Amino acid sequence: MAKNVTLSYEGKEIEFPLVEGTENEWGIDVKTLRAKTNLITLDPGFKNTGSCKSGITFLDGEKGILRYRGYDIEDLAANADFLEVAYLLIFGELPNAEQLDKFLVDIKEESFIDEDLKKILESFPSAAHPMGVLSSLTSALTAFNPNSVDVDSEEDMYKAIVRIMGKLPVLVAWVFRKKEGLPLKYGDYSLGYVENIARMMFRKPNKEYIANPVIDSALNKLLILHAEHEQNCSTSTVRIVGSSHAGLFASIAAGISALWGPLHGGANQAVVEMLEAIRQDGGDIKRYMEKAKDKSDPFRLMGFGHRVYKNFDPRARIIKKAANEVLTDLGLVDPVLDIAKKLEAEALSDPYFVDRKLYPNVDFYSGIIYRAMGISTETFTVMFALGRLPGWIAQWREMRKNKEPIGRPRQIYVGKNHREFLPLKSR
Ligand code: ACO
Repeated sequence: MAKNVTLSYEGKEIEFPLVEGTENEWGIDVKTLRAKTNLITLDPGFKNTGSCKSGITFLDGEKGILRYRGYDIEDLAANADFLEVAYLLIFGELPNAEQLDKFLVDIKEESFIDEDLKKILESFPSAAHPMGVLSSLTSALTAFNPNSVDVDSEEDMYKAIVRIMGKLPVLVAWVFRKKEGLPLKYGDYSLGYVENIARMMFRKPNKEYIANPVIDSALNKLLILHAEHEQNCSTSTVRIVGSSHAGLFASIAAGISALWGPLHGGANQAVVEMLEAIRQDGGDIKRYMEKAKDKSDPFRLMGFGHRVYKNFDPRARIIKKAANEVLTDLGLVDPVLDIAKKLEAEALSDPYFVDRKLYPNVDFYSGIIYRAMGISTETFTVMFALGRLPGWIAQWREMRKNKEPIGRPRQIYVGKNHREFLPLKSR
């Protein structure tokens, strides 16, 4: 492979180095482009733009490969605990028993919320969208933890990490409980990280809480599958906000807002709402397929398509299997699962979807599992945020440790040319 590419421009030949990744991915290093040519690149949606070098996640969209720090997602989802995966993502290696134990103990030390922050949550209207509430509360965490992180100190960095890993699950559980009209209570910190989250969320005030291993295991798997996905919209947001040296909590709050949109994490809510609408409309799948293909109709098949996966999304395969298992184990029949499977089968044999390489993504089946657990549709994306937390932390940490410059894209201006200001009475 050549080491450089040459750009011919205004009679000059300008060379740019090629950069190679560890999995044989290549890019053109255009850092000196503007200085050498006064040109910039234009790439809306960043479809061809690498914003950083990263050692956290590898994904091959053509082959459907996803690896965290070199480990296959299939392997991690089948065998690992979410907290182990979080440690792996953030610190780069799987923890040994002692390291994992310490991580959990340190997180538990931080698993409480200032009573004044609780009052803020209580003052939100019950109709508020849980993602808006979670983003606001995460942002408010900065006010209750005002000390900035010295990113050159591993100890400081570690403290900020265990703090957010401890506090976000409490906020998530409370946002869920508030929506359900349940009292805001803490969990049982003798339990594991995921088991405690389930308890904090599902414990009823009038009943002894009995853990359901099917729910604990499904939650563990979903959190792992959502934990990290390289430079997607919310992760890029976290990195870019953090690149201004805003703190970890502020960066995560921005990531939560980015995740909310229906083209990103909000798709899990949109999928179940779509499936439910199809069901209530008589289950006419073919009509909805036609709507999805009609360019004059804004309807899209939610949960289908992905910017990077052009063959299949490995997470979707795992989640589809898990959805079947969870519903069977819980003895539930959900008619929307049936509609989802029929819709998938229809789309996979339709030239419109086949030609555009549109396959089910991670969120096509995840909402069905959350629904089976008793989580309301509007809270699905909050669960996604909880899963994505270690990925955001890992990316923020990597960006700060690599001393990356502030993120500041350029633009091609296409507005008005210079004009004189006219006073109001002359307009
Ligand atoms: N339904 C119908 N048509 C679609 C869909 C869909 N879900 N997704 C893409 N297409 C079509 C587009 O209309 C376009 O067609 P054209 O070439 O005739 O104009 C073509 O496929 C390419 O689509 P783009 O929007 O250009 O692809 P992009 O990479 O920009 O978008 C995205 C990817 C946002 C995920 C898109 O597929 C989509 O909107 N999917 C539905 C929302 C969704 O499920 N989001 C979750 C993604 S996973 C995650 O973020 C966790």
